[in-house]
Amino acid sequence: MMKKVLIIGGAGFLGYHLTKKLLLKKKYKITLLDNFSRGKKDKYFRELMTNKNINLINQDLTKKINFPEDDYLYIYQFAAIIGVQNVLKQPLKVLTNNFLIQNNSIKIALKQLNLKRFIFASTSEVYLGNQKYKKLKYPTPENHKIMLYDLKNSRTSYSLSKLYGEAMIALSDINYTIIRPHNIYGERMGFSHVIPELILRIKKTKKNGNLYLDSPQHKRCFCYVDDAINQIYKLSKNKKALNDVFNIGNKDEEIKIIDLIKLISKIMNRKDIKINYSKREVASPSRRVPDLNKTFNTIKINNQTSLLKGCSKVIKWYLEI
Ligand SMILES: NC(=O)c1ccc[n+]([C@@H]2O[C@H](COP(=O)([O-])OP(=O)(O)OC[C@H]3O[C@@H](n4cnc5c(N)ncnc54)[C@H](O)[C@@H]3O)[C@@H](O)[C@H]2O)c1
Repeated sequence: MMKKVLIIGGAGFLGYHLTKKLLLKKKYKITLLDNFSRGKKDKYFRELMTNKNINLINQDLTKKINFPEDDYLYIYQFAAIIGVQNVLKQPLKVLTNNFLIQNNSIKIALKQLNLKRFIFASTSEVYLGNQKYKKLKYPTPENHKIMLYDLKNSRTSYSLSKLYGEAMIALSDINYTIIRPHNIYGERMGFSHVIPELILRIKKTKKNGNLYLDSPQHKRCFCYVDDAINQIYKLSKNKKALNDVFNIGNKDEEIKIIDLIKLISKIMNRKDIKINYSKREVASPSRRVPDLNKTFNTIKINNQTSLLKGCSKVIKWYLEI
């Protein structure tokens, strides 16, 4: 008997990779719900859709919905308005729509006859206030006290919408697991994230040309998408992860942006490029390091893809498309 899974925001980056993983298990019937505001019906998505165990609901969850009773066992809620540009340009829309999406997702969950788990993708940005007030412990555990930043600051909109989403699911009667992904990277993630953006910029830079870099000293722990999806999948099945919050990410390799670009240039065989520091002030946090002890102890995994291996795969993919 195939198990039914609903992935809300299923055409996006994490939704696509989770779908691929679930298909390999050969025991899931998967429904992807998306409005394609960000997810694309590209050739990779169209290829996925040829599988007989997938179907699609094209639906905007900010609108009124009429979702019938059903028997999805797992719901992954990945839909949200994300991205720095959205957050800076239309913060009220981010705040309102992320609430509406979560509200409708919870209504869908309440219609399920045998729902085992609702997995809500929150974010590492919930720690934004602590970062701004320089009151954040690194690595950051999930039970860190959370400070709210200036409500008039546009960046607060995303962080607050996710925190509110966490509270909505935690206060419902639904079995849930909240995940807080930290800098996931991989194939088919668009071009507006650090790693694909750097790959594209290096590719476009002429021989011996200059490349200007914002925030070279900022540090991140980048996690390869297969590792992140493995963590999310295992948590969603684990009884100890019921009604709790988990960081998702890379537990070992913290890297400065300047060293990341050196690594990517090296893999791309572009050591000729001269890196210059731009003086532009960027709003992103200077450091982000998840404490992954709870996640790794709960699902009992240890292995991770090295940044070198993950970046090599992703570079190859981006250079071929
Ligand atoms: N990728 C990361 O590193 C990361 C980090 C932190 C948090 N997250 C969270 O994980 C989730 C998934 O991330 P992602 O990178 O896959 O994002 P994504 O933007 O690629 O995927 C989200 C999907 O939701 C869909 N969507 C947006 N609004 C919708 C609406 N009104 N109705 C229906 N569908 C709608 C989009 O079209 C898109 O396909 C997001 O909620 C994000 O906040 C991701």
